[in-house]
Amino acid sequence: MIEIPQPDDWHVHLRDDDMLQAVVGYTARRFRYAMVMPNLATPVVSTAAATAYLDRIRAATPSDALDFRPVMTLYCSSAIDPGDLRAGIEKGLIAAVKYYPAGATTNSAAGGSSMADFMPIYETLVETGARLLVHAESTDPAIDIFAREEAFLVDQLAPLCARIPELAVTVEHISTSAGADFVREHPNTAATITPHHLARERSDLLADGMRPDLYCKPVINSASDRDALLGFATSGDPNVFLGTDSAPHPTSAKYGPKAKAGVFNAAYGLEVVAETFHQLDALDQLAAFVSTNGCAVYGVEPPEHTLHLTREAVDADRATELHTASGDTVVLFGTDEASLWTVAPG
Ligand code: NCD
Ligand code: ZN
Repeated sequence: MIEIPQPDDWHVHLRDDDMLQAVVGYTARRFRYAMVMPNLATPVVSTAAATAYLDRIRAATPSDALDFRPVMTLYCSSAIDPGDLRAGIEKGLIAAVKYYPAGATTNSAAGGSSMADFMPIYETLVETGARLLVHAESTDPAIDIFAREEAFLVDQLAPLCARIPELAVTVEHISTSAGADFVREHPNTAATITPHHLARERSDLLADGMRPDLYCKPVINSASDRDALLGFATSGDPNVFLGTDSAPHPTSAKYGPKAKAGVFNAAYGLEVVAETFHQLDALDQLAAFVSTNGCAVYGVEPPEHTLHLTREAVDADRATELHTASGDTVVLFGTDEASLWTVAPG
């Protein structure tokens, strides 16, 4: 059995309406801080919209949540008013701004075509000390899908970091050795890594029947990239921490002719990460990755609660899917790992 401080999820999609109702409990019963992504069908671009969304999240949160603290983000677009952003950050309502390349992923049509287009937003972030969160993936059709993270980092983010070195950046859900190297080499950057990018490689996605439930953006990359991510996550580097990128889609949208990108891992993501660390004999680094590094980067106090994680084969079959009130089904990622671990409040 190991005991860890209550973990945080620094990148999560909680959705809205019935899907929000169905998924928020998985996050709220386990994680403390949750950095809530703003890519709703109508992107969250104002403090008022973020506050209304936070109210809906709170209303949907089950009463047995441990110590759930959703924090809100705005969607980087020309629709953001820098004055409103500043006021939202100063009131403690907005924690960060998320940059999406237009067309890279789910609900990203309102994203940017060049990072250089949003200087007033970045200046506000620098002045207020809030972070820019970046989906680092090129949308250039001439670039191979497995090379798009590195291309974006080289073409877009490196020039921005050189131009505004004081801008604090979180490179979200890094998926390649290039992503890990970028964060090691750029002092004002940090990275989140997802459970599925630590535990799977692209062969799992494609080799034995195509697996829409493992399809996400950025796409799960090669085995050597996964090994580089595992090396970074278990290294003790203070600038890397868990962001699950839990992103539920109904099976009707995942198993159709054009699968939507996103893996729903809020249920078992912690077990998946624990198993990857266990396999590397690195469980002594788990608390840093899932609990304490992110707190330090985001400047929040350490948690009061702890979780106990026990590795033991569990007889009870783990649920493999959830159902929303409107009849949608979502596949739960990580049932195999979940059958090896028990997680309980400490
Ligand atoms: C996310 C979603 O579905 O909202 N999908 C994903 O594959 N990760 C969007 C995102 O974070 O890219
Ligand atoms: Zn995401």
